Amino acid sequence: MSVFPEWFWWGAATAAYQIEGAATEDGRTKSIWDTFAATPGRVAGGDTGDIACDHYHRYRDDVRLMAALGLAAYRFSVSWPRIHPRGAGRANPAGLAFYDRLVDELLGAGILPALTLYHWDLPQELEDIGGWANRDTAARFAEYAETMANALGDRVALWSTLNEPWCSAFLGYGSGEHAPGHTDPESALIAAHHLLLGHGLATQALRANLPGGSPVSIVLNLGAIRPASASVLDLDAARRVDALQNRLFLDALLCGRYPDDLLADTAKVSDWSFVRAADLSVISAEIDVLGLNYYGPSEVGISAAVVRDGPQEPSAWPGSAHVVFSNPGFPVTDMGWPVDADGLVEILTRVRRDYGDVPMMVTENGAAYADVIDRDGSLHDVERVNYLREHIAAAAAAIEAGVDLRGYFVWSLLDNFEWAWGYAKRFGIIHVDYATQQRTWKDSALWYQHFLATGELT
Ligand code: FCB
Repeated sequence: MSVFPEWFWWGAATAAYQIEGAATEDGRTKSIWDTFAATPGRVAGGDTGDIACDHYHRYRDDVRLMAALGLAAYRFSVSWPRIHPRGAGRANPAGLAFYDRLVDELLGAGILPALTLYHWDLPQELEDIGGWANRDTAARFAEYAETMANALGDRVALWSTLNEPWCSAFLGYGSGEHAPGHTDPESALIAAHHLLLGHGLATQALRANLPGGSPVSIVLNLGAIRPASASVLDLDAARRVDALQNRLFLDALLCGRYPDDLLADTAKVSDWSFVRAADLSVISAEIDVLGLNYYGPSEVGISAAVVRDGPQEPSAWPGSAHVVFSNPGFPVTDMGWPVDADGLVEILTRVRRDYGDVPMMVTENGAAYADVIDRDGSLHDVERVNYLREHIAAAAAAIEAGVDLRGYFVWSLLDNFEWAWGYAKRFGIIHVDYATQQRTWKDSALWYQHFLATGELT
């Protein structure tokens, strides 16, 4: 018998900028990703999200694909600049109308809508006044949450505030690999705090405006972090990465504090005086579900070259720019990310061990591979099928180990705009031909469909 309950949220996930296209339609203005993608050298191949998967126009067909797959739930994000084109103020009815249609289409197909408010596409007008380094952005985010709660609160099944605030803060403001492309270690810490504050204020706004019982969550990219060796230096590197990637967020959200070792590690970068007295009680407002995105484990250490030549700057690890990541020999995906499903069990059980019985969902899990369509139109993505099978088995193992796991979402429904990698990396279980917008089922989609219909992990 399957350990997954009948009601388990089996789904697939996407994000607005990665699939919608229609960048200038119905009053949408630029987000930081439009600006970043238009800046030469920022995104591979000069790709942009202008057209992407044209989901804005093809959402009905895409919902039909979801229904044919047998999804119970669909995780999507809302494009903030469609709703508040100026970053604030009156909502744009045409922008709201798109998500209204999408949600009704999903409900009509018997699919639970799981909505993420912020999957990285900050309105450019807010970036122009400081972005997430500006405390006011947290208040603007709460206003936008209220707008969405009033528009869709009667129909959305799960509300997530932020997707992976670690990436928004540390890749966006630290290493500069993501929009808005800044490289200032203190700004990265400030942005992380303001994102969390935005989450807390948005949670208050959602609670005040949603019908009682609507669940609220946040999605984190927690790491299964392992030291490269038992040496003191490597153990210290792993502790530092754990503090910045995991405990900064988990301690703030679930315990209402920032870890002492994090404050010590970053003391040369910032005195954290941007944290105000009541902030952590706002940030630690109760959530109903913790979303966790998992792709692979991290092995962390310090290399001799870094000791010799000094840390790699700019860095996504403020105060710890000397850490280096390695792979102890796991197979890798097309992103170069190590594949190890045990890491998923490790991180889920660790959250339970250290933070208690938090209800969780795997809100993203999947892999990029260099897919090729055969002459007969089939696409045999054997590695992705194996990846999904192993990770769903890991989700089952976590439940058996006592984790309160309530859902699992494949990343991604469709091939899409993979941020700084543009269209070069394909994560979909459904292939997208960007020239024709033709959707083609990969073997992984057929496999997932069969699994959802039968519960058999074959
Ligand atoms: C996650 C993002 C998602 C996608 C996957 C591959 O970090 O949330 O948008 O890019 O990685």
